[in-house]
Amino acid sequence: MITVEKLTKSFGSKLAVDNISFSVEKGEVLGFLGPNGAGKSTSMRMITGFLAPSAGKVSVCGFDVVEQGLKSRSRLGYLPENAPMYSDMSVFGFLSFCAELRGLFGSAKARAIDRVVQLCFLAPVLFQSVDTLSKGYRHRTCLAQAIIHDPEVLILDEPTDGLDPNQKHEVRTLIREMGREKAIIFSTHILEEVEAACTRAIIIDRGKIVANGTPGELKSRAPLAGTIVVGLIGIGWQAVQPNLAALRFLERSDLISECDSHTTFRLEPNGDLLPEVLTLAQRQKWQIDHLKIEEGRLDDVFRSITLPDTERASIK
Ligand SMILES: Nc1ncnc2c1ncn2[C@@H]1O[C@H](COP(=O)(O)OP(=O)(O)OP(=O)(O)O)[C@@H](O)[C@H]1O
Ligand SMILES: [Mg+2]
Repeated sequence: MITVEKLTKSFGSKLAVDNISFSVEKGEVLGFLGPNGAGKSTSMRMITGFLAPSAGKVSVCGFDVVEQGLKSRSRLGYLPENAPMYSDMSVFGFLSFCAELRGLFGSAKARAIDRVVQLCFLAPVLFQSVDTLSKGYRHRTCLAQAIIHDPEVLILDEPTDGLDPNQKHEVRTLIREMGREKAIIFSTHILEEVEAACTRAIIIDRGKIVANGTPGELKSRAPLAGTIVVGLIGIGWQAVQPNLAALRFLERSDLISECDSHTTFRLEPNGDLLPEVLTLAQRQKWQIDHLKIEEGRLDDVFRSITLPDTERASIK
């Protein structure tokens, strides 16, 4: 549904997007992550045909966004960054205008407006002027125009920016549900949103794709993912540590805390360490308080991938 090939954009000497390629299929919700200034919005502007690429190609539903702009644009909905709108219109007037731009008139237009007013919870402000809307309602109105023609492809630049926690939840759920039938790209700085709504995520840093995978795959790249954390009762670290030396598949061990004869430590494996640890614990008759394999956290992955090398080394 969306194919991006070697897409590049420079502004003067500034390379904002540097040779990125990926594709998005129907049924996929792709999260776009990256630090401020990474090139997310610029990439999205090029995918929607709003900005011409310096090099590379984008096609939406098989149509080249530059050469067949009208055909590709008619198949996509776009929520731009900062939700720009005509501020002297009412919400209803704006949605009505957008519906007509999308070729909807009469009862089809009325149905489309009803649908998005419901989906985006706009009933309380329907006849309010856009320039008097609160930030959250403004954002929701702009999201409503993006989906008014029920497009096959959606490009949403920070769709939950400025929404309260309830609305964030509603919009995430809406994105996830719409994603079953559409191809969606959305950018966000909220990493839990990626886990809640995305089937796949791309991390962009300084214009380049530095990671591309399911949220689970990305999490497994976290610096501590796969390490085993063990908490023991009634024994101190000094008594535990010598026993660990004999473990097969142990790369390193670190004490996390020791207090009132509760000892918690982390084991970094270089093979199938868990059965070895369980056997040792049984043999030593250790009383296990807790034992878990660290799943990895998306924000650790994000930080370890997108920080400069000097700062990367300091993440524990
Ligand atoms: N029209 C422009 N002219 C000059 N430079 C631009 C222009 N648009 C974007 N840039 C630069 O391109 C880089 C990428 O910007 P972009 O807006 O794509 O980042 P982003 O990943 O969306 O960041 P954020 O998370 O802050 O929204 C930045 O350095 C930005 O200053
Ligand atoms: Mg942006």
